[in-house]
Amino acid sequence: MSITTSAPGKLMLFGEHAVVYGHPCIVTAVDQRVFVTVERNGADVLHLEAPDLGLMAYSKTIADLGQKDVPKAVAFIEMLYKRFLELYPQQRGIIVRTRSDFSSSFGFGSSSAVTVAFAKALAELYELRITNDELFKLCYQAVIDVQGVGSGFDLAAAIWGGTIFYEPPAKVVEPLNIEGMALFVGYTGIKADTATIFRMVGEMRRQNPDKTDLLMKEISVLTKKASEAIEKRNWTELGSLMNQNQSLLRSLDVSTEQLEALIKTAIDAGAWGAKLSGAGGGDCMIAMASNQRKEEVEASLRQVQGEPMKVVLGAEGVRIEENI
Ligand code: PMV
Repeated sequence: MSITTSAPGKLMLFGEHAVVYGHPCIVTAVDQRVFVTVERNGADVLHLEAPDLGLMAYSKTIADLGQKDVPKAVAFIEMLYKRFLELYPQQRGIIVRTRSDFSSSFGFGSSSAVTVAFAKALAELYELRITNDELFKLCYQAVIDVQGVGSGFDLAAAIWGGTIFYEPPAKVVEPLNIEGMALFVGYTGIKADTATIFRMVGEMRRQNPDKTDLLMKEISVLTKKASEAIEKRNWTELGSLMNQNQSLLRSLDVSTEQLEALIKTAIDAGAWGAKLSGAGGGDCMIAMASNQRKEEVEASLRQVQGEPMKVVLGAEGVRIEENI
């Protein structure tokens, strides 16, 4: 039996960083997917073929999972498999193959998508009925094993799909309808190092807890207002909330010159608002504009060496592609 699953990447709309400290965020799944195929291999080893992650013919015995050398590219898969086997022990190992629609450099979250797609494939292979909440818990544990921190927003987008209002402590996931929303995505050309920026913000919070917590609270208020603006289909208001969120992200010191250049040019070209998306330090920015402004906004991004990205938002969450 061979099972293939897929899970989508994500794009943060509102609430980055604040979500790490218990505040809500809004995230959407994008139509760029990671595909994972699993089958049993009859031996007590994990065998992995992941050309998109730069890994071919990687093998590890079940007893050694998570130990010895764990290359970065394989860490999420290996830790997830280890956690899965603790819950559902198996004597025999598996062969895993991964393939991805997108380059991991845009910040669309290939590690969360691969973790979720792999977990779903394992559940299907062993015919386990696990709920989305259980899937989330399993994947979140593996992400924490690898990264030490993380709000889990990217896993929620990969599991539930669509556009969601995500609250980290209780993992409340509420779907939002973004029909009619015109969002432009510009890639800075720079791969962000999420872990470093994450630590920088943590350090700022240690040095200046009151100021940092206040900024996080203000981001949280904007995120709630953004969810209301989406419900009311008030796109100009949503643009203005993006500008306000960006100004708070600037105060957190996570924006960069290149992100600012893309944001400014989009607004000069008629966008109602724009902000960085994700941890900051590079990756992508997003802008809210009317569809009539599409050409001007996209041309303006190119003028400052930005790359307009074609992504469809609100993509379907994890799914089974094939069971043969
Ligand atoms: O850089 P990204 O797209 O992985 O987003 C990181 C978002 C943070 O809020 C900074 C971290 C998190 O886990 O929520």
